[in-house]
Order: sequence, then C-alpha cells, then structure tokens
Amino acid sequence: MIKIAPSILSADFSVLGQEVERVLRGGADWIHVDIMDGHFVPNISFGPPVLQCLRRATEGFLDVHLMISQPERYVDAFLKAGADLLNFHIEAEGEMGGLIDRVHQAGKQAALTIKPGTPAQAVYPYLDRLDMVLVMSVEPGFGGQKFMPESLDKVRQLRQEIQRRGLQCAIEIDGGINLENAPLAAQAGCDILVAGSSVYGAPDPALRIQEFKQACQ
Ligand code: DX5
Ligand code: ZN
Repeated sequence: MIKIAPSILSADFSVLGQEVERVLRGGADWIHVDIMDGHFVPNISFGPPVLQCLRRATEGFLDVHLMISQPERYVDAFLKAGADLLNFHIEAEGEMGGLIDRVHQAGKQAALTIKPGTPAQAVYPYLDRLDMVLVMSVEPGFGGQKFMPESLDKVRQLRQEIQRRGLQCAIEIDGGINLENAPLAAQAGCDILVAGSSVYGAPDPALRIQEFKQACQ
C-alpha cells in the first residue's frame, strides 16, 4: 500500500507536536520534514534543534529532506537530532557516496533527491546503496506549488531500473501532490507520496489522508 508522508512545512509551527500527532493518528505513515537554508533554495525553514523537539514529541518515522548547499557540514547534527531517513540533493555540494555511508553507519536510511531539471540517470551510480530516491515534482523551496507531470516519466524510468537490478530501493515524490495526481504517481511506481498543503490545508487532514489512500488503491 502507498505511504503518505505529510510535509509539516504547511503545518502550524506554533503547535508542531500536535500537528504531527494529528496526522499520525489519521493514518499518516511518515512525517516529511523540509530543511531549507536560504541558499540552496530561496527559503528558510528550521534546523536541527526543531527536529530534536519533534523527535521528543513523536515516535513517528521522520523523513528529513535536506534542501541545503553543504549537507556534509550538517549530516551528523541531523542524525543526532533524530532523523530516521536523510534525503540529500544530488545537486548539492559534496561527495554523495560518503554522505550515504555516514547515514548507514548510524543505522539510518539514506536517499538521494533530484530536482525537476536533473535526469533520473544522475542517481544510477548510487542506486545499489540507496534506500530511496526522492523525485521532486516542483522546484524545491515552497509548499503549495503546481505539480509538474513530466516528473512521472522519471519515476517510471527509476522504477524500471530498480526492477531491472532487482533492488529494494523505494521511490518518493514531493511537490504539488493532490487527489487527482496521486493515483497517477502510484501507478508510475511511487511508494511514498509527500503531501503538504493538500493535507494541512484540508478542513480534516485525517480524512484527506484516507482519501489519498483510497484514491491510490
Ligand atoms: C518543497 C518541499 C515540499 C513541500 C510540499 O520544496 O520539499 O515537501 O512542502 O508541499 P506541497 O504538497 O504543498 O507541494
Ligand atoms: Zn520536501
């Protein structure tokens, strides 16, 4: 079954613990945590101290998306703060293989993330060592943007390559996911859907999560 990972970027930051608990009670599988440094993307969110507070507030799986220029400077801090999975942008600085190893040495999961302009093939050299690939379906930086349908071609290519190699690597998609495109993403081969504004902007976020699951069945 498809996993739903609400992005807390669209949640009320003044009551983050409650915002996380209410979607987990509503059937959310993971919590997607967007970290933005104002340099890799033109927006700033928060850093390790907030993640650490979240870790204390929930036992839910924390899927951390690092939209930062120099992940090697912060990987240990985010691991220590309680990330269960770290997503590194392949377009960021640094040697991706070393970052993946550090995450695995800490007993956590590692993913590479690709922006809309980056081809699927960019992650192929690392595919055998990855727990997940995150395909961006908007330019990273802000919630509430419009889904880019071309991203589904990349999901299909990745799914094919993962199958061809007989790997377990999961595929996640992030940006502009709503009830209309969610089934298309699932059909294309996504295992996890990130949804920010469509979950936290709904009158009843828990109901929206159930609607997502039904739509993808
Ligand atoms: C965008 C973030 C996304 C964002 C998704 O840079 O990585 O996780 O919060 O929000 P929606 O679902 O509103 O596009
Ligand atoms: Zn994200």
